[in-house]
Amino acid sequence: MSHKVGGLIASGKTKLVYSLDDPSLVLLRFKDDVTALDGKKRDVIPGKGSLNAGISARLFQLLKENNVHNHYIKMYDPSSLIVRKLDMIPVEVVCRNVATGSIVKRLPITEGTVFDSPIIEFFLKDDARGDPMINSWHMMALKLASKCEIDEIVELTLRANDVLKKFLSSRGLMLLDFKLEFGRRNGEILIGDELDPDCMRVRDASTGKVLDKDLYRKGASLDEVKKAYEELYRRIVET
Ligand code: ATP
Ligand code: TYD
Repeated sequence: MSHKVGGLIASGKTKLVYSLDDPSLVLLRFKDDVTALDGKKRDVIPGKGSLNAGISARLFQLLKENNVHNHYIKMYDPSSLIVRKLDMIPVEVVCRNVATGSIVKRLPITEGTVFDSPIIEFFLKDDARGDPMINSWHMMALKLASKCEIDEIVELTLRANDVLKKFLSSRGLMLLDFKLEFGRRNGEILIGDELDPDCMRVRDASTGKVLDKDLYRKGASLDEVKKAYEELYRRIVET
């Protein structure tokens, strides 16, 4: 069944959201833009949109197969996914297996520490306030989610982590951390947004080679970033 693409509903830094003839669905189109430092650093890497769309589609499909509820329906074209339309909760949910990135700046934890159990953190999506870290009490006080919904978000995040870690490990890859976004549909909480090297840290398990957006954050050339994303695509989607 093919869908007719309607008007642009939203335009973010790296994705466009379009309406579809079925009002319960939307089209997510992945742009070739790459950004860091809250959008202050920005470039275009031709082909990046389809690499990230393909990786997201494969990983969301994997989560679906493992009963980790998410918005994914199918790919529409190489850089677009058809997903269930969600009422998005403006919170970034980060899950960490290994200490790196903002947590080692914030807390007395040594880079590379492997956590005994995963750590979950919430960040409010609020550009003007620099996306502050919040906890479940803030989420309830700000009426972002109920206690029951937060429990569901934590449960889905931990289950996604288990599934993703195992799958990536079977491909010789290590999952250090990742970010999810959630939304509601008919009272149910589902994972939405994307699942690709823009929002996760993935390393080769034996060499430690970086295969994610850290390359871009740390000033690698656009060609190096593209090659890493292509390698990750091959190892996740084509094998
Ligand atoms: P912002 O939301 O601040 O624009 P961003 O620049 O990171 O953040 P993008 O990721 O480029 O945004 O755009 C994607 C937009 O689509 C986000 O606002 C996200 O919340 C929204 N979105 C993702 N999945 C869905 C979905 N299933 N239904 C509706 N909206 C979605
Ligand atoms: P984190 O270390 O908190 O942020 P950074 O190093 O970018 O300051 O990020 C943890 C993981 O979550 C990392 O894989 C990037 C991802 N992430 C996003 O994609 N978007 C976000 O807004 C946040 C906070 C994290």
